[in-house]
Amino acid sequence: MNRANAKLGCALAMVLGSALLVAFSHSDASEAEIVRSVAGNKLKREQCDLFAGEWLPNPFGPAYTNASCKLIEFTRDCLTNGRPDTGYLYWRWKPFGCELPKFDAGKFLDLMRNKAWAFIGDSLLQNQRGSLLCLLSKVEEAVEIYREAFAFTIWYFPSYNFTVTDICAPFLLKAENEATDHTMLHLDALDAKWTNNYHKYDYIVISGGMWFWRTATFLENNAIVGCHNCAAAGQNATEYGGDFSYRKALRLAFSFMLSSDHKPLVLFRTWNTEHYEFGGDGMLVCNRTVPYRAGEYDGRPTDHLMRGVEVEEFRRAAARSGARIRLVDTFRLSVLRPDAHMGLYWLVDRDPGDKTMNDCTHWCLPGAIDTWNDIAMEILMREGEFRYSS
Ligand SMILES: *[C@@H]1O[C@H](CO)[C@@H](O)[C@H](O)[C@H]1NC(C)=O
Ligand SMILES: *[C@@H]1O[C@H](CO)[C@@H](O)[C@H](O)[C@H]1NC(C)=O
Ligand SMILES: *[C@@H]1O[C@H](CO)[C@@H](O)[C@H](O)[C@H]1NC(C)=O
Ligand SMILES: *[C@@H]1O[C@H](CO)[C@@H](O)[C@H](O)[C@H]1NC(C)=O
Repeated sequence: MNRANAKLGCALAMVLGSALLVAFSHSDASEAEIVRSVAGNKLKREQCDLFAGEWLPNPFGPAYTNASCKLIEFTRDCLTNGRPDTGYLYWRWKPFGCELPKFDAGKFLDLMRNKAWAFIGDSLLQNQRGSLLCLLSKVEEAVEIYREAFAFTIWYFPSYNFTVTDICAPFLLKAENEATDHTMLHLDALDAKWTNNYHKYDYIVISGGMWFWRTATFLENNAIVGCHNCAAAGQNATEYGGDFSYRKALRLAFSFMLSSDHKPLVLFRTWNTEHYEFGGDGMLVCNRTVPYRAGEYDGRPTDHLMRGVEVEEFRRAAARSGARIRLVDTFRLSVLRPDAHMGLYWLVDRDPGDKTMNDCTHWCLPGAIDTWNDIAMEILMREGEFRYSS
């Protein structure tokens, strides 16, 4: 793979724009014992809230490694890039009322015969897609069959006729000059890269993210109606926050889904938290090696603002009939994992003395982000999407 292209990817890390200004002392991991519950309590399974829980030690470690999964992009491969500590791999998410079953690659692929998935959004969706491909690689390795920069990447599982597509649409909305400070964001039009292909997918994972806090000028009917970071955008118009454009994007995306004749199962994943902190030398880092305990850290005000928009717009859409949209509320479980980001270990050939390049936005593979797919699979199970004999 071409390293320079991969760096550009779908989303640029928002390193300095979004510093996390907290400092907590931290003590050792939870003492809770690992309890393997008896599987199969159907009633409980449906009722249990998957998103309220805690991280418990997991001596079994991750479902795959840098050796077993050949598809980990080097910018997500903390192990190969020399991350010295591995404790972050030995945790599992335990919802309070039940067990979260581990991702079952064989069962998943059996049920995905002749099906198509899409991940629609920014590089965090690609991060999650990377995890899915690795979880599935235990049964079959995906083949990349198409790549178009800043647009589509498609993988194929030959034995299953199953396709997984990344669609780069970080604003979900129609945007010009997407990756610059001169972005013109159309608040009344969706990004055709995903809407034109929507009918092709049986399953969709979708979300917005930090891109909504980039400098942008907002348009409706091709006329300027406002901006974010107006001075930087060079506009004399009303200043709005990223929550304003995100709400517009979600409302428009959900109404498109509600009115479409095509009814895929849509998994709407909630806000991804970054974990930047000031290190001793004033650099922004994320060098913690253990999760936060419940209640120790709850995210930044911006995180709550954006997740609030998501939950409101989701509820608004869910109250109307006509779409199958499910909330995959990974926000809280991810807030507790400052230890599971790339940090410095996203650059193979970084200068060892250079500490300016921490990535505290994206997640190491394998790692905490694998839980997002464990949860996606469990939601599909609960939906009865996976009916199978024996
Ligand atoms: C996986 O990472 C380890 C270090 O944790 C490294 O020694 C090994 O070479 C890596 N394996 C591959 C296949 O890159
Ligand atoms: C493969 O799956 C697609 C749907 O994703 C379907 O249209 C196509 O007919 C399938 N091909 C075969 C050979 O079954
Ligand atoms: C900005 O717009 C306001 C209201 O339209 C106007 O009064 C003001 O003169 C403008 N400022 C500049 C620098 O153009
Ligand atoms: C993280 O970095 C800061 C300084 O940048 C240092 O003081 C601290 O000990 C480091 N923590 C860990 C767990 O390495």
